[in-house]
Amino acid sequence: MSESQSNIKLQAVNLTKKFDRRVIFEAVNFELGRGSSIAITGRNGSGKSTLIKIIARLLAQSSGELDFFDGDRKLRTEQFYKYIGFVSPYLNLYDEFTGFENLKIISDIRSSGHGNIDNVLQRVGLYSRRNDLVKIYSSGMKQRLKIAFSILHDPDVLLLDEPTSNLDLEGVGVVDDIADEYRKNRILVIATNDAHEKSLCAGELNLNRDV
Ligand SMILES: Nc1ncnc2c1ncn2[C@@H]1O[C@H](COP(=O)(O)OP(=O)(O)OP(=O)(O)O)[C@@H](O)[C@H]1O
Ligand SMILES: [Mg+2]
Repeated sequence: MSESQSNIKLQAVNLTKKFDRRVIFEAVNFELGRGSSIAITGRNGSGKSTLIKIIARLLAQSSGELDFFDGDRKLRTEQFYKYIGFVSPYLNLYDEFTGFENLKIISDIRSSGHGNIDNVLQRVGLYSRRNDLVKIYSSGMKQRLKIAFSILHDPDVLLLDEPTSNLDLEGVGVVDDIADEYRKNRILVIATNDAHEKSLCAGELNLNRDV
């Protein structure tokens, strides 16, 4: 992974999310700069996945501000996508394509070139299975491919929702290594209730509303 030059910052001020009239979380505040890592924790249904989707700009907050800066420059949403990588149980892969083709498709959408695909496949341990259709991948192999997706464009911010689910020990090691790099040099956010995943982050944001 190359050393990123950008100086990105994420800032959330009084972030609140409601679905209809149900308040999921309220007045969440945080600021994350280079070298920051945070675990979003809280009981099932507390809004961890919802918050990480809002940070990824896949979902809108109900109120409050979420801003992304590169230095002093505030980024527009469409600029932000190249800065983030996202792994989520909700992410879909293209079953009828191979692992390699899946990564090629996403590189084409991002206009990020194909140069890094083989490296990333090696890194997540899928290189020898790159030409197999995703529909015959095991659940852990699919999870590895999602991780490959998230780091393919060498983003500054990595957002991981339950990243080690379905992974074997070696797969967990892949996530550990990636998390280590992001924690030190970039921005890492993990939504989790798993003690090991939580230990990969320096800080914690607990969404339980009555603790
Ligand atoms: N599209 C939606 N419409 C209505 N309610 C929703 C929607 N998506 C999520 N919710 C609700 O928002 C709440 C938070 O869900 P979310 O998936 O963010 O929880 P979580 O903390 O990630 O839970 P888990 O630990 O099970 O992963 C839940 O009550 C859920 O039912
Ligand atoms: Mg969740």
